[in-house]
Amino acid sequence: MTAQGVAAQTGSGPEPPSSPLNQGKPHSARMYDYFLGGKDNYVADRQAAAKVLTMWPGVMIAARTNRAFMHRAIRYLAAERGIRQFLDIGTGIPTSPNLHEVAQSIAPEARIVYADNDPIVLAHAQALLGSDPRGRTAYVDANVAEPDTILNAPELTEVLDLSQPVALSLCALLHFVPDEWDPYAIVQRLLEPLAPGSYLVLSHITPDFDPEATQRTVQIYHSGGIQGKIRTKAEVERFFTGLELVEPGIEVPHRWHPDLAAPDTGTDTGDVTDEEVSFWVGVARKTAS
Ligand SMILES: C[S@@+](CC[C@H](N)C(=O)[O-])C[C@H]1O[C@@H](n2cnc3c(N)ncnc32)[C@H](O)[C@@H]1O
Repeated sequence: MTAQGVAAQTGSGPEPPSSPLNQGKPHSARMYDYFLGGKDNYVADRQAAAKVLTMWPGVMIAARTNRAFMHRAIRYLAAERGIRQFLDIGTGIPTSPNLHEVAQSIAPEARIVYADNDPIVLAHAQALLGSDPRGRTAYVDANVAEPDTILNAPELTEVLDLSQPVALSLCALLHFVPDEWDPYAIVQRLLEPLAPGSYLVLSHITPDFDPEATQRTVQIYHSGGIQGKIRTKAEVERFFTGLELVEPGIEVPHRWHPDLAAPDTGTDTGDVTDEEVSFWVGVARKTAS
């Protein structure tokens, strides 16, 4: 189905039972949208989100803190490491500022490819394609479990030059990838064709600070049919094998360069606790091919 076709189905009319948006079941992108205060979510998403809130009251703070980390990391890579190409997988429902807006506010010529497998993200993809005319953006409708589909998509190969550094952003995505899919091999495969000097930006929910709240949250997601696994610091660190971590290494998002927050850009972390946030994040450089 085309983006326009899906978009048409998000209107106010009754939804056909075969809708690919599957509004009767909670969905991770729409629940995250709800946690960020967005409006692109349905009753099933809000019901599951309400259950999560009773188990993990900090989840809305966690979503905002994760998003603020992503903004700071992208600003850092564009401003201080000269990165001009970005591949953002697990993009989420557009929430301004989106990654391309952050990158192009520093480097208008930046090129960004987004990828997600959710029809509702596809339906809203137009908001991700409003590039600065000096740069470019594109959207790939694909599952991260099929990295070659993403890497070989014409939308990607037309926009990104893989002989030059790329920042690969996998924010709040890999906890939706169960061990059976071999998430470590997926990340390695995605990094493989990227030029030396490329970066990995990653954030991931962890049970390390509040195991009961976060494990119960996983159960709520599982009972809604959403797969995944939350991971310890050591398990998150493994995603960075072979890469050179940027200081301060694997950290909670609110302590990853809070100094880089810029006023009115959604990059501020505020006063939050590790239990509320329950994420690990990291940024690392690929040194060898
Ligand atoms: C929690 S949102 C994160 C959004 C954004 N990256 C951020 O950190 O603000 C997770 C996104 O991952 C997407 N996602 C989940 N599983 C996926 C998969 N197997 N392949 C591609 N995208 C996936 C969801 O559709 C959702 O848009």
